[in-house]
Amino acid sequence: MAKPKVRFVCRECGYISPVSLGRCPSCQSWGSLEGEKEAPAASGASLSLLGPSAVISLAAVPLSQTQRLSSGLGELDRVLGGGMVPGGVTLLSGEPGVGKSTLLLQAAANVAQNGGKLLYVTGEESASQVRLRAERLGLKLEELYVLAETEVPVILETAAQDWDILVVDSVQTLRIPALGLAAGSPAQIRESAAALTALAKKRNIPLWLVGHITKEGGIAGPKILEHLVDAVLYFEGEKDRPTRILRSFKNRFGPVNELGVFEMTGAGLGEVTNPSELFLAERPRGAAGSVVTPVLEGRRSLLMEIQALVSPSPLAMPRRQTLGADPSRVGMLAAVLEKKARLKLFDRDIFVNVAGGAKIAEPAADLAIASAIASSWLERPLPPKLVVLGEVGLAGEVRRVGRIGERLAEASRMGFTQVLGPAAELAESEKQLKISVVGVRHVREIFTAEIGLSVPK
Ligand code: TYD
Ligand code: MG
Repeated sequence: MAKPKVRFVCRECGYISPVSLGRCPSCQSWGSLEGEKEAPAASGASLSLLGPSAVISLAAVPLSQTQRLSSGLGELDRVLGGGMVPGGVTLLSGEPGVGKSTLLLQAAANVAQNGGKLLYVTGEESASQVRLRAERLGLKLEELYVLAETEVPVILETAAQDWDILVVDSVQTLRIPALGLAAGSPAQIRESAAALTALAKKRNIPLWLVGHITKEGGIAGPKILEHLVDAVLYFEGEKDRPTRILRSFKNRFGPVNELGVFEMTGAGLGEVTNPSELFLAERPRGAAGSVVTPVLEGRRSLLMEIQALVSPSPLAMPRRQTLGADPSRVGMLAAVLEKKARLKLFDRDIFVNVAGGAKIAEPAADLAIASAIASSWLERPLPPKLVVLGEVGLAGEVRRVGRIGERLAEASRMGFTQVLGPAAELAESEKQLKISVVGVRHVREIFTAEIGLSVPK
C-alpha cells in the first residue's frame, strides 16, 4: 500500500510545503508549519449529509431566492452591499475582543425580530455566556436560538433543518472528528468551512463565519478561507477607544473598501451615522500641524484629520513615523517638500498621525499631509474651516483627485468654507461649489497661498 503523503501547512498564512520547515518562507513566522495528510477524505463524509442536488435553469431560479436580507443594522448592510445574500458566505474577522460576537448577536436579534429563523452556533462561548451577553444588550431572548457545538457533522445535521440564516462563531473552534486533528489546525479550519459553505449554497441561506486574527495583525486561519468565501469583512478598532470600523476586503456581491462605523458602548454597538463628526470630534483649534481632508471610503466621503509633528532630530537618521498613513508616501512627500519647496527636513523627525484611529490610503490626501508637515515646521496653524486635497507628484505638481464633488459636498455639510487643492480642477467646478477655492499647481505654492503659512527661510 502506498504511504499516505504528508504535507506541511502554515497555521498563519496557509502556505504549503512538502517538507517540514522551522520558518514559513511566505509569512516568516517561526514554528507555524504543521503536518497533515494530503487531501483528507473526511469532508466527503460530512458533505454526504447534504444529499443530492437538482440541476436548474437560471430562468427557473425563483426571484425570492436572490433577495437580500437586512441585518437591521444600516452600517452592516451598507458594507455588505445592501444586506445579506441568500447562499452568500461572509467571513467576519478581527482581533479577539473587538466585538465580532456582539455585532452578530445584535444582527441576529434584529433578524429574529423580523421573523427570520436564525441559528447562532457558538463554539467559543457556552449558551449561558451568550444569554448573559444578550441580556446585557437588552435583546429579546425568546426568538434567539443558539447551538453550543463545535463538531461539524452535528452542526450540519442541525442546520439542514429549516433555518434562514446560520452564524458560526468561530471557525477556529470547529472540528471534523474524522480528520483526527486539533481544532484550529489549517486542515480543520479549511475542511469545516468548506462543509458549512456547501450547506449554505445548497440550502441557499446566508452563512456567517467568525474568524480571529492574531494580535500581531497577521491573519491566522481566516487567510486560508479568503478564497472560499464570498465576502471578507474586517472589524477593526483600538482597545482603549470605542470606535469600531467594519471594512469589506472582498465582496462578490457588493462594493469593496466600503466602510461601516460603530461605537462600542456599555449597551453594545451603536451605529455612527455621521462618522466625519466622530473623526473630527477632538480636533484641536488653532494648532499647527493639523489639517482636515475629505477621503473616499467606498461610496461615501468622510472628513479625517491629519496631524503632523516636525521637530529637530537628535539622530543621524531622522525618524519618519506614521500611524494611519502610508510611511513610504510620507517619506516621498518629505523628499518632495525638501527638494521642490526648499523646506529643510533632512535634520527633522517627522511624525504623521491620522486622528481617531482611522486610516488613509489615498494619494488624494498627499497635499493635506504635505500641508500638515509644512504647518508644523513653520509653527503656523491653517484656517480652522479649511480642507485640503490633491495628489502630489514627484515634480511637486498638484494633481486631480477623483469624485471631488462628493468630497467637497461632505466638507461643506460639515461646515467647512474653504478648500485648498488642484487649481485646474477647482476652477472647473468653482461655480457649483458652495465653498471658496484656493487653487495651487505646485506644492511650493502652499507657502504663498493665502492660508496662513509663510515662505520658509
Ligand atoms: P466580543 O463581541 O466578545 O468580541 P469578539 O467576539 O470579537 O472577541 O466583544 C467583547 C468586548 O466588547 C469586551 O471587551 C467587552 C466589550 N463590550 C462592551 O463594551 N459593551 C457591550 O455591550 C458588550 C456586549 C461588550
Ligand atoms: Mg467572540
